[in-house]
Amino acid sequence: MNAYRRATRAVHEAHYQDLSDAHCEPVAMTSAYVFRSAADAARKFNGSAKGNVYSRFSNPTVRAFEQRLAAMEGAQDGVAFASGMAAIAALGHAWLEAGKNVVVSRDVFGTTLTAFRNYFGKLGVQVRTVDLTKLDAWRRAIDANTRLVFLESPSNPLQQVGNIRSIAALAHACGALVAVDNTMLTPVFQNPLEQGADVVVHSAGKYIDGQGRCVAGAVLGSERLMAELRGVLRTLGGTLSASNAWMLLKSLETLELRVRGASRSSEQLARWLGAHGRVARVYYTAMAEHPQRPLILQQQSGHGAVFSFEVGQSQEDAWRFVDALKLVAIATNIGDTRSMVTHPASTTHCRLTAEERRLSGIRDNLVRLSVGLEDAADLMADLDEALSVVPMREPEPDEYERGAAACMEEEEDGLHVPS
Ligand SMILES: Cc1ncc(COP(=O)(O)O)c(C=O)c1O
Repeated sequence: MNAYRRATRAVHEAHYQDLSDAHCEPVAMTSAYVFRSAADAARKFNGSAKGNVYSRFSNPTVRAFEQRLAAMEGAQDGVAFASGMAAIAALGHAWLEAGKNVVVSRDVFGTTLTAFRNYFGKLGVQVRTVDLTKLDAWRRAIDANTRLVFLESPSNPLQQVGNIRSIAALAHACGALVAVDNTMLTPVFQNPLEQGADVVVHSAGKYIDGQGRCVAGAVLGSERLMAELRGVLRTLGGTLSASNAWMLLKSLETLELRVRGASRSSEQLARWLGAHGRVARVYYTAMAEHPQRPLILQQQSGHGAVFSFEVGQSQEDAWRFVDALKLVAIATNIGDTRSMVTHPASTTHCRLTAEERRLSGIRDNLVRLSVGLEDAADLMADLDEALSVVPMREPEPDEYERGAAACMEEEEDGLHVPS
């Protein structure tokens, strides 16, 4: 399969058939496996022979999903988990220890940070957070005691970008592993392993399933690192079910078409919103005025279908807009066929104080849109009608100008342009 391109591997990699010759892969709904003899069981248990042992850590349907996703990420191997958080927790169990530290970009998915702080922090792991965009901050935070560097790029909901190649170079110089959460862009638009990351993480219930049907996770990387993670899975569980693995296996076959379709609509809508009199600002890597444009063009081959924008002046304006939408559902998920809107300040970021939200750039009038597969013209009509309930506003001094100043600082430290 190695000779084929991603779209071909997405439908053929790890394809398997049962004795009925059914073209579609069967679901291996089993917990246990039959051994040919006591010696066969012993060999499979001690790893000297290949074969399934017990579905907590080996199942043919789950394995096919792991191999297909690994092929799409350009990884040697992968390990699937019951959720994105189970996958992230496994990284911690595999590679963190008391007295060492993990360096995390500050605006990763909130529960990721909570997992490191609350559950690895109490075991004696130091958790350091840094601004995703500031290479100098990464350089200061990463040291000889760093075991893991974790980032998500682009960030959600403000769509800032971290320079994966440069951050990986800093981490590797100190012997640390680099994990990139690629949930937002998927392998269709970003390949962190090619940029120097050691492992890629997915919350697979987002674009990989793409239809809002299940919770799942996966990590992809080298055979050696995946063997270490499978050891964690074998011991601690957090196993993906065969039925969910089967859905995900089939979903990978349409990932490229779905992600490209949603992204095309998303770019169209974002540009239109950027010129709308009731929208103050759009946060999206596809915007020409994004201050990190050169890095974005070099690191991503597309922009995905999640972006944020500010409507009117206040939370009331944002809520009026959200409540007036008819086609777009109010839901805090991303990556579904159906478009969804959320108000971050009162949902995903409600546990932050008002001051913390201000420092993170999460304004009260910010809304996040996950664009689905509806016709873009229907979505535009829905957004336009809902925006009509919001007062026009005067744009404030442009946030992007301030962002641009921050990027120039990065360039000056000589690490912005990867070697
Ligand atoms: C970017 C990102 N990473 C990780 C997670 C956690 O994944 P899960 O909900 O599958 O545990 C999420 C969940 O929303 C996410 O958005």
